[in-house]
Amino acid sequence: MGARPLIIDCDPGQDDAIALLMAIASAEEFELLGITAVAGNVPLAKTEANARRVRDLAGRPELPVYAGCPRPMVRAPVTAEAVHGPSGIDGADLPEPSRPAEETHAVDFLVQAHAEASRPVTLATLGPLTNVALAIIKNPSILDNVAEIVAMGGAIGLGNVIPAAEFNIYADPHAAHVVFEAGVPLTMVGLDVTRQAIATPARIEAIRSLETTPARAVCGMLEYYGARTTAAYRHGPPLHDPCVIAYLLKPELFEWRDMHVAIELAGEHSLGRTVCDVYGRSGAPNARVLEHVDADGFFALLSERLARLPASAQ
Ligand code: RIB
Ligand code: CA
Repeated sequence: MGARPLIIDCDPGQDDAIALLMAIASAEEFELLGITAVAGNVPLAKTEANARRVRDLAGRPELPVYAGCPRPMVRAPVTAEAVHGPSGIDGADLPEPSRPAEETHAVDFLVQAHAEASRPVTLATLGPLTNVALAIIKNPSILDNVAEIVAMGGAIGLGNVIPAAEFNIYADPHAAHVVFEAGVPLTMVGLDVTRQAIATPARIEAIRSLETTPARAVCGMLEYYGARTTAAYRHGPPLHDPCVIAYLLKPELFEWRDMHVAIELAGEHSLGRTVCDVYGRSGAPNARVLEHVDADGFFALLSERLARLPASAQ
């Protein structure tokens, strides 16, 4: 079948950055058509510049990065500098990007790419779903050429930004509703599974032993990010977004159930909750919800892919 066409939508974010590195290193599996950035962890101007820094770090300065939506569809913007730092990828210590973002808006790129792709496109989403939702609204026919959407977001159980909701969904619940109701194959990579992918000190040292510039940047990001998440994660930070790429590369590392997932849009204390019908009572499933990951297998895959990147790709 050859490499599958892939677009990654992201809000770097240390974990987004690691996911991007993992995907860029997987050229046999992915034909990366472009990277689209959205406001999320930090404002758009920073997420899009961070995406460009990371593609340079991976030795792929020619990869196009498209800036997208600077705010959610309806609700007031929320960001997560307390977790990710003012830059969004604190700890990475990366130089300025080698070249500007593309002129085309990310939403327009998403529409064009799906119209022009000769094979259905896989969408990996690592941040709030604003860009993807607006592309669907602007031109619903793109859905005819979507292979699947694999989205980091939501949770069957506890959220993170508020008890009831996970950040990517909470940051733009209306966009999430559009995507979850789009009727295309959708895999939800929620906190239930990503909280099992913990970057413990031993796993960080295994990455550091690669002794490359990308590996050192990853370790710096994990140490920064980990120091700000100790209240919730005593043994190390969770690698939320890289679970999306790992699932696309090796789904056998994961376990899942198909179920209906509704997005709460009205709750005073639950806006952005992914209401996951584990009992199978509220209608036909619209999502595959990941529930377990082989964490050792995940980190072995992550290290193996990072090792493929140019040692000093700057
Ligand atoms: O809740 C975790 C998600 O929110 C991750 O994608 C992280 O990067 C932030 O975007
Ligand atoms: Ca993210």
